[in-house]
Amino acid sequence: MKIKLIAGTILCVVWSGLALAQNQKEKEIETKIDSLLSIMTLEEKIGQLVQYSASWDVTGPANDAYNQIKLDNLKNGLVGSMLNVTGVKNTREAQRLNLENSRLKIPLVFAYDVIHGYKTIFPIPLGESASWDLDLMERTARVAAAESAASGIGWTFSPMIDISRDARWGRIMEGSGEDPYLTSLIGVAKIKGYQGDDLTSKSSIAASAKHFAGYGLAEGGRDYNTVNIGIYELNNSILPPFKAAAEAGSATFMNAFNELDGIPATADSYLQRRLLKGEWDWDGVMVSDWGSIRELIAHGVAQDESQAALLAMTAGSDIDMEGRVYEVALKNLVEQKKMDIALLDDAVRRTLRLKFRLGLFDDPYKYCDEEFEKKELYSKENQALALEAAKKSIVLLKNDQNILPLSHTVKSIAVIGPLADDKDSPLGNWRAQATPNSAVSVLEGIKNHAPKGIKITYAKAAELSTGERSFLKPMTLNQTDQSGFADAVKKAKDADLVILVVGEDAFQSGEGRSQTDIGFAGVQDELISEIHKVNKNIVMVLMNGRPMDLSWSDENIPAILETWLLGSQHGNAVGEVLFGKYNPAGKLPVSFPRNVGQLPLYYNHKHTGRGDEIQEVTYTSYRDSDRDALYPFGFGLSYTNFKYSAVKLDKTSFSKGGNITATVQVTNIGNLKGEEVVQLYLRDLVGSITRPVKELKGFQKISLNPGETQTVSFKIDEEMITYFTKNQKWEAEPGEFKVFIGTNSRDVQEASFHYQ
Ligand code: NOJ
Repeated sequence: MKIKLIAGTILCVVWSGLALAQNQKEKEIETKIDSLLSIMTLEEKIGQLVQYSASWDVTGPANDAYNQIKLDNLKNGLVGSMLNVTGVKNTREAQRLNLENSRLKIPLVFAYDVIHGYKTIFPIPLGESASWDLDLMERTARVAAAESAASGIGWTFSPMIDISRDARWGRIMEGSGEDPYLTSLIGVAKIKGYQGDDLTSKSSIAASAKHFAGYGLAEGGRDYNTVNIGIYELNNSILPPFKAAAEAGSATFMNAFNELDGIPATADSYLQRRLLKGEWDWDGVMVSDWGSIRELIAHGVAQDESQAALLAMTAGSDIDMEGRVYEVALKNLVEQKKMDIALLDDAVRRTLRLKFRLGLFDDPYKYCDEEFEKKELYSKENQALALEAAKKSIVLLKNDQNILPLSHTVKSIAVIGPLADDKDSPLGNWRAQATPNSAVSVLEGIKNHAPKGIKITYAKAAELSTGERSFLKPMTLNQTDQSGFADAVKKAKDADLVILVVGEDAFQSGEGRSQTDIGFAGVQDELISEIHKVNKNIVMVLMNGRPMDLSWSDENIPAILETWLLGSQHGNAVGEVLFGKYNPAGKLPVSFPRNVGQLPLYYNHKHTGRGDEIQEVTYTSYRDSDRDALYPFGFGLSYTNFKYSAVKLDKTSFSKGGNITATVQVTNIGNLKGEEVVQLYLRDLVGSITRPVKELKGFQKISLNPGETQTVSFKIDEEMITYFTKNQKWEAEPGEFKVFIGTNSRDVQEASFHYQ
């Protein structure tokens, strides 16, 4: 007891010592910023808010007039940050040009979209979210940070924490799905991973929580589109991940392209000034999205650059990413006293603060160590982590008669499909500096992990896409050529089992990649059906960046494995799962609809005025389709089975300051060791505004041996039932609540309690 007390006291003293030192450091930073601001010219201040993309070779001559202007501005100290300059050689040179020529020698910071890895590629964010493993997600962010930092980058435009409920939206692949609680935790894990404990460390980079806010609800899933959402839904469903990111100290935020109820997010003062920089007291820097300040003109809320700049600055958009608006408009606005210089000073202060916090004033070349670059990129350890992340992200959607893991009676396998030996698609979109075609394909993974003696044949059968496939170039998807089918059908006929690798090309999802169809592109439907005619023993391995319409497959294919786009080690992860070296435990972070017409679809929807029972038969559901998801949020099978007991509560009510403990027993009733994500949902039965039918409020990932039982408890407190009420305040309202605990958002045990 005494020892514990002493240890506790020592910890407290160390902790307060560290906090004091941190405070002191922050104070010193502010003093340094004060003195810098006092000697900066108006032009130099504006320059800090200018962010250019590297559209010219920084080590060579600028090739057109605008690039020449950029280069001159850089040398004159009129650029604060850059994006898309990568590699130590290039960042060093750009920094040198700035430092050796500019008057004040304020270091540049180099930003980049490091979304799911830099050189080593991890699963796309939607896929990795299916691991529900926060520690893993922090570690992959840490490695992505180290690889980027080793390559000259000090700032990533990640995590993307937009809630999205629409599989048509191409950017659904970049986020963590439809749930605000899960997304908040993942966002925080990512920020911790990128930034580490110490931003000045050589392997830490600044995070950027994006896109502030509402971008994921673009109507009809059309990218960049209008968002209409009320103040309650905005606060309860969209903003919580951003609030969590601000509290976790995300060094930067990025605003969004979309308008929200008539106000483009870039010009939204409620979001940026009142909430983020006001009530949430966040002192980081807000970067616009690419050109989004100039887009205020196209949105029709500004008639020219001057008005766009004034709107954006007033709203709190600090840095102009490639908008070329601040650099042409801010000087006049200040000189003509149309804009308070205090706004400018605040934006510059925030930008300089970022650079001080990163330690760039102490060492502007801190990210320019070529030895570190060589050692860090694509190392063995990083590949091992990529494999761990890939395995943990796989979701088993269907497994009739335990066809998986593949048994020893399977002596021959036909691996078929346009994605089966694709070494590029696993890298996904937003692949940073991945080497094209560098991933382990599914075919390679199968060969690596199949027991000796199994005969493996392969047929591509058809192309999925043609033309250049890249972030900027559209490819052609509507393939019609079925000439490869005959060979594939023959191989399928001759084999004990078929592994059908189908889905989406990497560049079908991502920015500007929305689709009205979420089925299989090209001739994949025909291929699946032809193979099914000759061999029904099929395992479908799906590769995709969005939830797809799997209705036909769910009815006809015995086993379906959701493998997303898993990054560098995709094939090895799939191989391990197919042959039972790893028991899958992923759970969907997003609902899978039955058809595209159900979208938007999400488990945490409202109830409507019609009761649950009559909802089935009235016009609140569809006449031609079920209303619920094919695979619900939180769903995912294992090679073993788990049994849940009834939910026990230690009391039936609690009041302010109190809590209730909800407990279930989970038993592994199968024959294999397995992991399970035990999920807790709550429902507020009567509120001052309408409340969702269920909301995720907790989860625990447990591992059980066959026959083993574990007691899993969740403490339910006031914070869990607090929401943005009719009073437009965060409050817990008295009343009845339901508790649900289960294996996914649909299959749950329930109990009730009262809060007074
Ligand atoms: C536009 C995207 O919306 C944003 O997410 C990204 O960070 C920037 N472009 C920079 O590439």
